[in-house]
Amino acid sequence: MEFEIKVEKLKESRISQFDPKNIGFGKLFTDHMFVCDYEGGEWKDFRIVPYGPFQLSPATSALHYGQAIFEGMKAFASIKNEHDICLFRPLDNAKRLNISAERMAMPILPESIFMQGLHALLDLDRQWIPREEGGALYMRPYMFATDDFIGVKPSERYTFAIFCCPVGPYYNKALRVKVEEEYSRAAPGGVGFTKCAGNYGASLYPTAQAQKEGYDQILWTDPIEHKWIEETGTTNFFAVINDTIVTPALTQTLLAGITRNSVIKSLKHLGYKVEERPLSIDEIVTAHQNHEIKELFITGTAATLMNLDGFAHRGTYHEVLSNGDNQISKTVKQFLDDLKVQRIDDPFGWLSCI
Ligand SMILES: Cc1ncc(COP(=O)(O)O)c(C=O)c1O
Repeated sequence: MEFEIKVEKLKESRISQFDPKNIGFGKLFTDHMFVCDYEGGEWKDFRIVPYGPFQLSPATSALHYGQAIFEGMKAFASIKNEHDICLFRPLDNAKRLNISAERMAMPILPESIFMQGLHALLDLDRQWIPREEGGALYMRPYMFATDDFIGVKPSERYTFAIFCCPVGPYYNKALRVKVEEEYSRAAPGGVGFTKCAGNYGASLYPTAQAQKEGYDQILWTDPIEHKWIEETGTTNFFAVINDTIVTPALTQTLLAGITRNSVIKSLKHLGYKVEERPLSIDEIVTAHQNHEIKELFITGTAATLMNLDGFAHRGTYHEVLSNGDNQISKTVKQFLDDLKVQRIDDPFGWLSCI
């Protein structure tokens, strides 16, 4: 289904504010954004407008009752075809947005709207794509409830929008994480598997506590026994135990990361043994004491793939970074970095280049 997008261009691009040598993360936005609205049971008013504030009623229901979901995805400058921009697995983000939408009683956004809006926006703002190694254009598709109404019920109106920012690395060093055993991120039957805004709001206080103690991030455990490893606040988690790469199996309480899935498939493609299964913190501690932990790493769109320096568990810090040469994480990161910019072939059909 093709639909018409009205385009209102910014009079003078802000591209001169963009310093490719000092990109940062999430502070500078490109010239335009894609927006559409849901009302009367249908999506309408597809438009690209200059990036700028929305006008919102004080009673906007997303602000009160939390119907707000988002995605995070990246596009890369191709090194094979100078003018191409390559999106990495965009349909998977469209599908995950709809998984979140369904659980949050929000309307499904047809994938064709997601993709067409994304392509039109990228095409218009293509000059913003960083060409430096490690740079990318980060895209933030999101949907929120816009009824001005007080009362707990699903909104009848919504806005979907996409904006972009040029980004460099999200983390710039191996992370020190704290294994969390007091607070919980998500519960069975809850919304942990979605990318709803509330999941992140609820994680901020425990994360700030961990940061006060000198750690970078939380490694969440399950909410019932605080025994099974789930994910960090912004990424999925992998452990290399001897020659096997283990990642927690997907449950209702963790996010099915697209990078996680890409890393699993790439590792298998490269001939490594991967297991998706319940992984307890006790198993990690014991394996570490037996010198069987070769690498710990985390994966996500923003973070890409980062090694962990170590983890704190019940007051003891276990340093793991120096256990080996981190060859497996280096290999799979390089494979994915090369694939995303078309330095190597894409055997999975993950790239969509425009
Ligand atoms: C809580 C959480 N887990 C995992 C991930 C990794 O997901 P993806 O690889 O799709 O970015 C993210 C990032 O979106 C996240 O916020």
